[in-house]
Amino acid sequence: MTEGPTRPPYERPSLLRHRAGTMNKMGGVPALRPQSHIDGVPVEELVAAYGSPLFVYSERCLVDKFHALNDALSARWPRVQLAWSYKTCYLDAVCRVYHREGAFAEAVSGMEVAKARRNGVANRRIVFNGPAKTRADLRDAFLTGVTVNLDHFEELSMAEAVARELGRVPEVGIRVNMQAGTLPRWDRFGFNLDSGQAWDAVRRLLAGGQLALTGLHCHLGTFILDPEVYKEGASKLAAFANRLREDLGIGIRSIDLGGGFASTARLKGQVLPSEQVTPTLAQFAEAITEGLSGLRCDPADLPTLTLETGRALVDEAGTLVSTVIANKRLSDGRRAVIIDAGVNVLFTSYWYRHDITPTSAPRGTAEATVLFGPLCMNIDVVRDHIMLPPLAPGSRVLVHPVGAYNVTQSMQFIELRPAVVMISRDGRHGLIRRAETLDDLVAGETVPEWIGGE
Ligand SMILES: Cc1ncc(COP(=O)(O)O)c(C=O)c1O
Repeated sequence: MTEGPTRPPYERPSLLRHRAGTMNKMGGVPALRPQSHIDGVPVEELVAAYGSPLFVYSERCLVDKFHALNDALSARWPRVQLAWSYKTCYLDAVCRVYHREGAFAEAVSGMEVAKARRNGVANRRIVFNGPAKTRADLRDAFLTGVTVNLDHFEELSMAEAVARELGRVPEVGIRVNMQAGTLPRWDRFGFNLDSGQAWDAVRRLLAGGQLALTGLHCHLGTFILDPEVYKEGASKLAAFANRLREDLGIGIRSIDLGGGFASTARLKGQVLPSEQVTPTLAQFAEAITEGLSGLRCDPADLPTLTLETGRALVDEAGTLVSTVIANKRLSDGRRAVIIDAGVNVLFTSYWYRHDITPTSAPRGTAEATVLFGPLCMNIDVVRDHIMLPPLAPGSRVLVHPVGAYNVTQSMQFIELRPAVVMISRDGRHGLIRRAETLDDLVAGETVPEWIGGE
């Protein structure tokens, strides 16, 4: 018997209220173009090898973005150093790609410093920021030559005490914050420049005679869409460095503008597509170096420009492969789709509208859909409103861009964390973190003997 043509799966018809506002003046619903491969590798091959959900990192994208930024800065400033922001994604393989290409490590905890060392980063190539360094952290940093940027007065006093104990005068930087056009104000970290607090900190440091100031650090905020913020920030830092040189005789050797560039992800509430909204890395580089051009010093003494860009380098390199579990109709008529990856591994869903791309052409009419993750929790919403055609259970979707902050902030909440793979520039792929098991989850647990433990 010959088989007839396969029929599309049945979907119960439903009446839908027309909702004004679905269309907007920026255009209708973008056409869904299925994507069956990542960097030339079939998604099905990846799922067969490593399971679903699955984070996939593109080495090609990591390398291309790194060099795009490094080249844009180096074309405009004589001494440039990128330091990979560990917390943005500290999977060893990702960090090692950046280190191989020339990045220092930027760490914000003793754990991150240790992780950078495990990755073979020399101490003098580690920048140590963060508001909660311990006495032991500072001692270790001063003994080994890790670059420390001080965050607050208590830390300054602690650093002096440690330096005194060690009988050394370590070189340090101070972190400053300022008003440069970001809202809300990003003034929780470092010493405030506008109020004079940063100046007081420098005088305090000089009076102590126990530390040598050689660097200025500032992280202006995150997901900054306006390069002018960097121009203003850099020009305020340049003015501060001029004053330090001219009034106090301090030569600043490194100006570090932190991270904060927007990635090409789309924020909730953002109407226009990212291609029209997100500045290029070259635009940020241009703004920063224009701001720094206010530095008054001999060209030979121009400080190294350090950047700790995280999100804008790694976000696009990460894709999450997920599998459709079920379709549902909610009581208000909206379609709901449940996939096997939720906010437990997609922390950025709280503020991004990730692209959701099926890997094969779906059939049927797109309609307003809520995309839920697998957690038995109401908060587990990956997209609260997306126009999608029906997605067959078992079919795959790609969630993109997810390379920044999701893996480091993912948690074992209800579900274990999935595997992470990297695709090489020549199309090979390999695990960079295996999927977790129950043994991983309970590895640190003990049951006291009064509850029946041994
Ligand atoms: C000190 C510091 N540097 C760099 C970064 C990386 O920032 P982003 O990922 O926004 O580029 C952060 C992130 O918060 C940070 O706190």
